[in-house]
Amino acid sequence: MYRGRRLRKNKEIRALVRENHVRMDDLIYPIFVQEGEGICAPIESMPGQFQYSIDQLPPLLDEMKKYGVRACLLFGIPAHKDACGSQAYAPEGIIQKAVRAIKAYDPELYVITDVCMCEYTDHGHCGILDEEGVVLNDTTLTYLAKIALSHVEAGADMVAPSDMMDGRVEAIRQVLDENGFADVPILSYAAKYASQFYGPFRDAAHSAPSFSDRKSYQMDPANGKEALREIEADIQEGADAIIIKPAMCYLDILQAAKERFDVPFCVYNVSGEYSMLMQAILNGWLKEEVIEETLVSFKRAGASMIITYFALMEGKRQYAQK
Ligand code: PBG
Ligand code: ZN
Repeated sequence: MYRGRRLRKNKEIRALVRENHVRMDDLIYPIFVQEGEGICAPIESMPGQFQYSIDQLPPLLDEMKKYGVRACLLFGIPAHKDACGSQAYAPEGIIQKAVRAIKAYDPELYVITDVCMCEYTDHGHCGILDEEGVVLNDTTLTYLAKIALSHVEAGADMVAPSDMMDGRVEAIRQVLDENGFADVPILSYAAKYASQFYGPFRDAAHSAPSFSDRKSYQMDPANGKEALREIEADIQEGADAIIIKPAMCYLDILQAAKERFDVPFCVYNVSGEYSMLMQAILNGWLKEEVIEETLVSFKRAGASMIITYFALMEGKRQYAQK
């Protein structure tokens, strides 16, 4: 008889046969940075997460270092929005200042920036609009390239375009190469779905569209094969690694993509996924162990990297176990 229970008998043997592990080296922590001073504002819909002004970052960066969080993904909340999102590429924009401040404080922290326009446009869409309110793909590419270049000039280690316009990886790769940044990688949100799980993020980043939705650029949750086409196109355009987003409902996409393409994959464990687990934990409905279970499921499905709001908590848990 097959007796699988022999290898589950105690925690020692379970550790010996464990197939997947979540290491702090795999995790990327998203940080919301906003203009102003003395701000460390709790985000109501994301318990345990905060919006920080730049001067309030050092204590967070100290904690991240102590608990082994070595990579972050930055989102900016500008003081001023306009039709073309000019604060997204301003040399003194919130992200450009934050990158410089973080790199000055801890040069070893790996800084990734989200390249998109929705936090910076007054209409909240991820690109430039025509008179009818349609997002103009090719016009937007010029802006995305400018934004990415300004982030890299400020010192970003890697850029992550999240807008879902066609051709943006090529446009960004070209502008980086022309400006002496051929060694800066692009982490492309290639398979990003039009998901309701971004709800809490849009509160946190003040980036909800003021009319309509993002379904004309983000993918239909019903589609799987389309994700493979998106990923193939982005790899051809020069993407170094690929993000699947959200994570929990889309692990089939990750597994299929991982079988097909030999590039590193990242999942984005998004705000709504974080909030529903965190609130259930806070209510006592779920035990905190659901976090480990969730994170290891991403590794099992094939992720090399995990963008997650749980990164710092997971660091504290692993630290306490040492
Ligand atoms: C910007 C962007 C979004 C997220 C990451 N970058 C929101 C959106 O597309 O509406 C979502 C992240 C999260 O929910 O945690 N385009
Ligand atoms: Zn956007």
